[in-house]
Amino acid sequence: MLGNFSYHNATKLYFGPDSLDYLNEELPKYGKTVQLIYGGGSIKKNGIYDAVVAILKKNGKTIVEDGGVMPNPTIDKVRDGVRIAREGKVDLLLSVGGGSCCDYAKAVAVSVNCPEDPWEKYYVRYEEPDCNILPIGCVLTMAGTGSEMNGGAVITNPAQKLKRGHVFGQEAMPKFSVLNPKFTMSLPKRQMIAGIYDIFSHICEQYFSGEDDNTSDYLAEGLMRSVIHSALIAVENPEDYEARSNIMWSATWALNTLISRGKTTDWMVHQLGHAVSAWTDATHGMTLAAVSLPYYRLIMPYGLQKFVRFATEVWKVETQGKTDLQIAEEGLAEMERWMKKIGVALHISELGATPEMIEGIADSTNLLRGAYHPLTRDEVVKILKESL
Ligand code: NZQ
Ligand code: ZN
Repeated sequence: MLGNFSYHNATKLYFGPDSLDYLNEELPKYGKTVQLIYGGGSIKKNGIYDAVVAILKKNGKTIVEDGGVMPNPTIDKVRDGVRIAREGKVDLLLSVGGGSCCDYAKAVAVSVNCPEDPWEKYYVRYEEPDCNILPIGCVLTMAGTGSEMNGGAVITNPAQKLKRGHVFGQEAMPKFSVLNPKFTMSLPKRQMIAGIYDIFSHICEQYFSGEDDNTSDYLAEGLMRSVIHSALIAVENPEDYEARSNIMWSATWALNTLISRGKTTDWMVHQLGHAVSAWTDATHGMTLAAVSLPYYRLIMPYGLQKFVRFATEVWKVETQGKTDLQIAEEGLAEMERWMKKIGVALHISELGATPEMIEGIADSTNLLRGAYHPLTRDEVVKILKESL
């Protein structure tokens, strides 16, 4: 039901093959020193680093280098980034990479002027920032997380085997994000597929809540159909600009708070996936794929009507002569067929998880209320065993 809510999104987007040019419009709004945040070096191979540095120099910026942000960024790396920002007295954090770099930039942004330890403050006590937050800009090179237009910052604490997300408010969201689908073309195919499943999962985890007549659900169904369609094209031909641009745009709208309006949301697949990542350091989207089907099959009876709607509206399952349960099961079977076609991981053992890890992964799983059925720890173990 659409009750009371506000909707505002602080991020300005620049989309398209020429969108990097808009950095020239954005950079003059900020001070002289820019912390250039990037990952393991892909942007140096594909030319994006050189293009960004040229624009920074043209705009008279001093560059403070901050490379080496790893996929599933760690809290130690965040602490290091905070040190770099303080020493360099930086004015703007510019993330050039995927969701990991953008999430990391947010975690640094809320910590530079804060005397407390970021893990304790934001990922244990879940407090809100009470200090000045550095502005962030983003040049996105991978479609998936939606980090380019949201406040999420997911950080891993390897010593504690915990991967946790904090959704910060508007002040910590990127002030601007540059989305050039061509920049995603150099992604290894497996990363592209992981990103696609991440998008699909974001939509599902907001869609599977409530059974009312909610505009957000119609938006979600449209986005899902676009992702399903474009994914099949992109997997066959990763160079297909139309498919890649649709995927990139869908990723942003899948997780920029729009389709969660009026929804309770679920998010248990992400909690399970994060726990798998905390134990294996596996690629985010693949962890979600590997736990999704056992999870949805377990909760389906508790939200049956929504799974029927999912089957008919998203997967176009024929209903004649079938029970609701059969229709809902066919919907999930269609989803499984699509997952196999695009080539996601369907087992956590493919991602490095072993039977000996199951209890530990269950301990690392944050148990949310869920939308249709709150999981017990025993059910978490059951899902993980079925996912092996
Ligand atoms: O490190 P580099 O060299 O940049 O290589 C990356 C990395 O190895 C590579 N890559 C990215 N763009 C490329 C490229 N390689 C070649 N060409 C390009 N154009 O891809 C690998 C994965 O990058 P990463 O940024 O880790 O991927 P993703 O965008 O999926 O981000 C994953 C992180 O975001 C978090 C995840 O948990 C994970 O930590 N999430 C953030 C969310 C949010 N902010 O709302 C929500 C998501 O659910 C998710 O939890
Ligand atoms: Zn995700």
